[in-house]
Amino acid sequence: MKWAVLVSGRGSNLLALVEAGCPIYRVLSHRPQALALDIAQKAGIAHRFLNPHQFEDRLAYDRALAEDLEVAEIEAVVLAGYLRLITPPLVERYAGRMINVHPSLLPAFPGLHAVKQALDYGVKVTGATVHFVDTGLDSGPIIAQEAVTIRPDDTENTLASRIQSVEHRLLPAAVHAIDQGKIRIEGRKVISEDYQEG
Ligand code: GRF
Repeated sequence: MKWAVLVSGRGSNLLALVEAGCPIYRVLSHRPQALALDIAQKAGIAHRFLNPHQFEDRLAYDRALAEDLEVAEIEAVVLAGYLRLITPPLVERYAGRMINVHPSLLPAFPGLHAVKQALDYGVKVTGATVHFVDTGLDSGPIIAQEAVTIRPDDTENTLASRIQSVEHRLLPAAVHAIDQGKIRIEGRKVISEDYQEG
C-alpha cells in the first residue's frame, strides 16, 4: 500500500517509519517550519506544506488534503504528531486505513498535552497508543498500546522522551501489520493475526 504521513512538528515518528522501511510516499504538513518536512526531504519522500490560511474552513482544507492524497494515489494515512482535527468526510474516506499515535494509554488523557495531563493527574503508569482514527477525539479502535512507568523525578520532557521511544516501535509495527493485511477491525476490537492462537 502507498502510505502518507500527516505531520505538524519534529517528525521523530516519521523518521522511525522511514528507518523501519515503511512504504511512505508522501508527507503533508500544515506548518511550513515543521522539521518533519526536512526529514522527508532528506529521505527523498515527496512532501508539501499545505497552508490552512488559504482555505475558508477546516472542511475546505481537508478537501484539498483529500485531493492531494488522491492525486498521489495514497491508500493509507498515518497521523504522526498531527495537531489538527480531521473532519468527518476525510476520516470516512480513509476508514480503517488511517491511524494515529498518541502519548497516553487511551482512553485516559485524550487531546493535547497528554503527557502533562498524566503527570498532573498523578498516575503512576502512562504509555503510548496506536489507534484507528474515527470522528471523535483520540477515540478510535486501539491497535497497540504499551505502558511506561512514571518516575518520581520525571518532568514532561523526560517522560515524553521515554514514551516517544515506545511510539517509535509501536507505530512502524502497526503500519507493517496493516500493510500486510494482518489486522482487522470488529466493532471496537482490533484483531491482529500475530496474536491469534492456533
Ligand atoms: C508524539 O509524541 C505523538 O504521540 C504526539 O505528538 C508527538 C509527535 O512527535 N501526538 P514527532 O513529531 O513524531 O516527533
